[in-house]
Amino acid sequence: MTEQVFSPSVLTGRTALVTGAGQGVGRGIAERLAEAGARVLVNDLDAERAGRVADSLVARDLLAEPLPFDVTDHALVTSTLAGREIDVFVNNAGVPPGGGRPNRFAEMPAEDWQLQLSLNLEALMHLTQTVLPGQVERGRGRIIQISSGASARGLAIGVAAYGAAKAGGESLIRHLAVEYGPLGITANSLALGLMEGVARGNEERIAKMARAIPTGRLGNPREVGTAVVWLASDDGGLINGQVIHLNGGTIFGR
Ligand SMILES: NC(=O)c1ccc[n+]([C@@H]2O[C@H](COP(=O)([O-])OP(=O)(O)OC[C@H]3O[C@@H](n4cnc5c(N)ncnc54)[C@H](O)[C@@H]3O)[C@@H](O)[C@H]2O)c1
Repeated sequence: MTEQVFSPSVLTGRTALVTGAGQGVGRGIAERLAEAGARVLVNDLDAERAGRVADSLVARDLLAEPLPFDVTDHALVTSTLAGREIDVFVNNAGVPPGGGRPNRFAEMPAEDWQLQLSLNLEALMHLTQTVLPGQVERGRGRIIQISSGASARGLAIGVAAYGAAKAGGESLIRHLAVEYGPLGITANSLALGLMEGVARGNEERIAKMARAIPTGRLGNPREVGTAVVWLASDDGGLINGQVIHLNGGTIFGR
């Protein structure tokens, strides 16, 4: 997937922060934003990963800087982002290191569901509060939540708290869209279906998952990045308060 959908200058002069961009979906988003001309702040909990992604972009003469921090540490977020202008904020970090424990809800320790809320809802709230005043001052901005189909449908064991936290984020986004739309700021959610990288190494399982998707394949992180560039661009300014599902047409149900 190499086609360039947008002009390489569509986001020139804009700074984008992508959380959890050291690998997976976040990396694809960071790449696409940088290819569209944005200066990308590559966040991750893992400083080495953030550094590797930023270096790989800079090596291609694109604009990027590693910015490692834990999105759940509010004081650290506030101090790290102080004085930085963030035109495009992509709240991507949403999977705890190791993926989280797949317990049934009744057996899920409170610390596990608290972590999901903290990563997928509270971090979105705090980071948005941190970047919004600058966006309001400049009269333009983009808030983009990376959500999941798990927000809108029941899934298998272990996903309840994650899905509830993502749904909370989508609700926040809808309200922000109405509150801040008149000030030049849009807020949207991209709800992903299964992406390449899940069940890595288990080809049989991947093929089975792909067969259940109408388009017959899992999503690619760079496709998510393309959707983010569209939302972030001036031409994407009419899209506000939406949950856009990138899932190949997966039918909701059990
Ligand atoms: N992969 C999928 O199939 C899929 C499906 C639906 C939604 N999503 C969503 O896409 C987003 C990215 O998922 P992924 O599969 O690429 O995840 P991933 O686990 O591959 O990568 C997540 C990155 O986030 C970082 N991270 C974790 N906790 C952090 C924290 N507290 N602060 C900063 N960084 C942190 C990790 O170090 C890691 O590099 C998530 O919001 C996830 O819910 C993914």
